[in-house]
Amino acid sequence: MTHAITPLAFKPSRLDGLSAKLVSSHYVNNYGGAVRRLNAIEARLAALDLAAEPGFVVNGIAREALIAHNSMVLHEVHFDGLGGTGAPGGAVADALARDFQGVERWQRAFAAMGKALAGGSGWVILAWSRRANRLVNQWAADHAHVLADAEPILALDMYEHAYHQDFGADAGRYVDTVLRNLHWGRISARYEMARARRTVSPAAAGVPVEAVLADRESVLLVDVRLPDDYAASGLRMPGVAWHDPSRVEEWGRHLSRGRRVVVSCVYGFEVSLEAAAALRRLGFDADILSGGLAAWRAAGGPVEPI
Ligand SMILES: [Fe+2]
Repeated sequence: MTHAITPLAFKPSRLDGLSAKLVSSHYVNNYGGAVRRLNAIEARLAALDLAAEPGFVVNGIAREALIAHNSMVLHEVHFDGLGGTGAPGGAVADALARDFQGVERWQRAFAAMGKALAGGSGWVILAWSRRANRLVNQWAADHAHVLADAEPILALDMYEHAYHQDFGADAGRYVDTVLRNLHWGRISARYEMARARRTVSPAAAGVPVEAVLADRESVLLVDVRLPDDYAASGLRMPGVAWHDPSRVEEWGRHLSRGRRVVVSCVYGFEVSLEAAAALRRLGFDADILSGGLAAWRAAGGPVEPI
C-alpha cells in the first residue's frame, strides 16, 4: 500500500512565532521524507522473501519500517495540532482538567517534558490510553517509542530539525511558542475519535474484582467452580460458599435475595456465565466475577485453604 501525504490544515505564514520557512521545511523534508521512506521500505518488503533472508536483513528492514511509520504518524499529529490560538477548549479541555487536576497543571507538565528533551531528541505525546481510560503525557526518545495501548492526540516534535532554524538551541522558547499555536478544535476532535474507538476485551465482562474487594458486602459472592477445579486448587475466597454449577437450579432457589449475586469460577469463562444466566432465570440480579478467582488473586484478593 502506498501511503499518501496528509495536507497541512493551516497556512504556515499565519503561525505566531514559528517561521513559514521552518514549518515548510519540516513538513516537506522531515514529514515528507518519512512517508517517502516508508513507501520505499514497503515496496522493498513486498519484493523480499523474508524467510530466505538472514536475520540482520530482516531485523534491519523491520526496524526501519517501524521507525518510518511512526515518524509519519507522529508528524501528522504534530502538524494537525498547530494553527490555532493556544486556548484549550472542547471535550479535551474537560478531560485534561479531570485527568491532570487542571488544564494549567497539564500544560506545565507537558511543557516541562518537552524542555527536558532539549539538546536531545524525541517526542512528548498527549495520548489517550485505552487501558488506563484517561489521557496521559508520554515521553518518547525516538519515533519507535509509543505507549502500546494509546492513541496520540497531540505530539510535540523535539527533534532539532523542528526548531533549530528559528530558535537555535533555545528549545524552551520553541516549546512555549508551539503551545500558543495549538489548534484545540482539531485536538479535541482527535480526542473524541480516540475515545469512540475505545475497545473493551470480551474477557472484561462482568463485575471487576476491585469493585467487590472494595465493598465485599455490596454483593453475594458464590463460588461456582467445577467440582474438580474446586478440589484441585485447595483454596477459596474467605467466607464464600461453593455450589456445584451443574445443580444451580436447586441451590439457586435457596440463595438469599436482596443483594446482587456475583458468581465466580476459575477464569470467568463459560462456567460462571452459565450459572449467572441460570440465576437470572430464577429472578436474581446476577453477574459474573470478571476474570474469576485468577483475577481475584492477581488483584491481591485474599484466599484461604479449603
Ligand atoms: Fe520532525
